[in-house]
Amino acid sequence: MLTMCTFNSEYHATRKVLSVAFFKQKLLTITKIIKKETIDVIKEFQQQGDHVIDIVEFWVDVQSRIFSSIAVGHNNANVLINFEQEDGSTKKNVISQLLRFIFKDMMNRIGNPFFSIFPELLPYAIFPSCRRLFHNIQSLRDGIRQIMDARLKGEAKGSIDGDLLSIFLQDPMYRDDPEKTIDDLLILFFAGNETIKTSSANTICFLAQHPDIKARVLAEITPSIEKAAGNFVEDLTVEETDDFTFLRYCWYEALRLEPPAPISIGSVFVKPVTIGGVQFDIDTVFSINFYAVQRDPKEWIRPEEFAPERFDPKSPMHLRPDGKPRNPFAFCPFFGGKRICLGKTLAEFMIVFTLPLVLTHLDFEFENP
Ligand code: HEM
Repeated sequence: MLTMCTFNSEYHATRKVLSVAFFKQKLLTITKIIKKETIDVIKEFQQQGDHVIDIVEFWVDVQSRIFSSIAVGHNNANVLINFEQEDGSTKKNVISQLLRFIFKDMMNRIGNPFFSIFPELLPYAIFPSCRRLFHNIQSLRDGIRQIMDARLKGEAKGSIDGDLLSIFLQDPMYRDDPEKTIDDLLILFFAGNETIKTSSANTICFLAQHPDIKARVLAEITPSIEKAAGNFVEDLTVEETDDFTFLRYCWYEALRLEPPAPISIGSVFVKPVTIGGVQFDIDTVFSINFYAVQRDPKEWIRPEEFAPERFDPKSPMHLRPDGKPRNPFAFCPFFGGKRICLGKTLAEFMIVFTLPLVLTHLDFEFENP
């Protein structure tokens, strides 16, 4: 498991294979999956007409469908798996719905004060919801294992080649270790899903609060979307999205104000250091508070304000309040160095396709402004 392990040889080997899977060239095929799933969800929403939705739930739906297709291919993502519901009954559902259900139970567990007081009890099924969570995770793993077995025997394929499972299975480290393959697919899902969902929902909310900025985004993206309207999957190309510069600034600004990972996972000092006059011993655990760094008034002009133009090198807001260039680490939602987020390029691809498609097909306003 990448995010929790120390920098041992397994970490480096895993990071190497995963980095290859996330090369821009390999991700290009994945963009077709992103577009297809987004369009499918939009069509379903349009059929429902005007109604009140929870914007976070909407993105959970979009992302879980995209992620399950990215992980195992569109055809396999529709395989039905048995899962236990809240009332204890069993139901068959597709992977994305099962992932949503598991994620909800996981979040409730993380937020349960009982486990903050007794973290050593986390591995045990103390409450009925824990037993259900463990059972559903096992069902999901069994389902993915079956897809993997079929894939290795050459029986099953995703509808659009290039899903993560097929990329993983090209490497012996994964081919020979089915449990590690399942672990890492799930880690990618949970690392990517929550972060993309939060940053997409926040961007939409900021745009709904700033109609002038939203109008500028729509002016930028609409011509490309109209041009590709006959066949988004093929005709809305990566080159076309290269021009969505202001949309990117809006997403960066949402990531700056509300970083989905507000603090880093703990790191340790590998040698004694002194920072700001305070001495830290070797092995001292520390975390970086991205939220505070990204609102530092020494680095950002009017840091509490939603101002996407601060990412435009031509804007006066691109500089610090003292007129000097900003510290390159003042914006760090993906961390940096050896620990930089592996899914950064995938995240950007997801944003430049999902947000324009959603913004040009669905209109959002607050129920209680
Ligand atoms: C808006 C989107 C995202 C944000 C803001 C984000 C943020 C981060 C951050 C801050 C870290 C460093 C955690 C730490 O060490 O403290 C990280 C690591 C990681 N992210 Fe992301 N992430 C995003 C999307 C994704 C996606 C889409 C994936 C994959 C599908 C992904 C996979 C990972 C993985 C595997 C790591 C661990 C890397 C390692 O420990 O070597 N992330 N991410």
